[in-house]
Amino acid sequence: MVKVNLKTLKIEAQKEIEKAENLKDLDIIFKKYLGKKGEITQTLRSLKNLPEKERKKRGKEANQLKKFLEEEIKKRQPALAKVSASKEEWIDITVPGKKPVLGHLHPLTLVKRKIEEIFQAMGFSIIEGPEVENEYYNFDALNIPKEHPARDFWDTLYLKNGLLLRTHTSPVQIRYIEKNNPPLRIIVPGRVFRHEATDASHDVQFYQVEGLMIGKDISAANFKAIIEEFFSRFFGKLVKIRLRPSFFPFTEPSFEVDMSCLTCAGKGCSACSRTGWVEIIGAGMVHPNVLKAGGINPKNWQGFAFGMGMDRLAMMKYKINDIRLFYSGDLRFLEQF
Ligand code: DAH
Repeated sequence: MVKVNLKTLKIEAQKEIEKAENLKDLDIIFKKYLGKKGEITQTLRSLKNLPEKERKKRGKEANQLKKFLEEEIKKRQPALAKVSASKEEWIDITVPGKKPVLGHLHPLTLVKRKIEEIFQAMGFSIIEGPEVENEYYNFDALNIPKEHPARDFWDTLYLKNGLLLRTHTSPVQIRYIEKNNPPLRIIVPGRVFRHEATDASHDVQFYQVEGLMIGKDISAANFKAIIEEFFSRFFGKLVKIRLRPSFFPFTEPSFEVDMSCLTCAGKGCSACSRTGWVEIIGAGMVHPNVLKAGGINPKNWQGFAFGMGMDRLAMMKYKINDIRLFYSGDLRFLEQF
């Protein structure tokens, strides 16, 4: 082993201690000289190989140096402790902040809220009903008797306990008029279910908005005016619509409302089955049997009802060409809203 010069060692170590900028530096210096493998420790360990006279002399010097450096390091500690503490706590207020990741609403929720806002402004109340229904409210009370072929219009998902998943929001009409007296105006947004093959414009679950307005002399003209007002507020512009005669057991007469497809501007695309028109509302004048089922005398009261496809409205508003995207949970889709 090479014999180190203790005098130069002392000078070097002193310089290093002086230059140390923080406690970490000081710790490194401690290890370099006084640690297990430190230079002074090694020197002391190698004393046993020296002749006695030299051993005594060098041993004394090395021990003095050891003590000296231990004290020097100790002296330097308090000052450096302050430096590191204040450095850690230092906050750079000029660094740009981190943007928190904000959640956002599903496009169907946005559309539902907009619909509610518009109808509320026209005096309609927002009503809800159960998704699990019984046959009475989903069919019988809506003038669709058992064994009647009209039941086939709705591809129904029956449950084991004799109940079913509602195929439309219309049962809430009955539930509401059973408990409330006319005149009345309500809309019923809600989820409905169909046992159906899926494609770009059909899914096994979707959302409808039911509407019901009953008064002394409410007519189909009132319906048309309200729907046109709704469309222009919802889309923020005039939208072409057409009424087609149709059939529903719970209305007489019945009609369907189509709107010109906004996804393709009426040219024909997957969202409108290439027809340029999107069937968006089923409607009609409430059938006297339905009013009776809810305890309202059809001789004194009349009105209109409608059922709107909320998903289709959303597809038109945001130019989406596949209904299944709403339920896919695909963030690449959802994060655009
Ligand atoms: N319940 C119908 C359906 O799901 C839509 C509908 C048509 C609702 C006419 C109505 C109505 O209230 O009057 O296909």
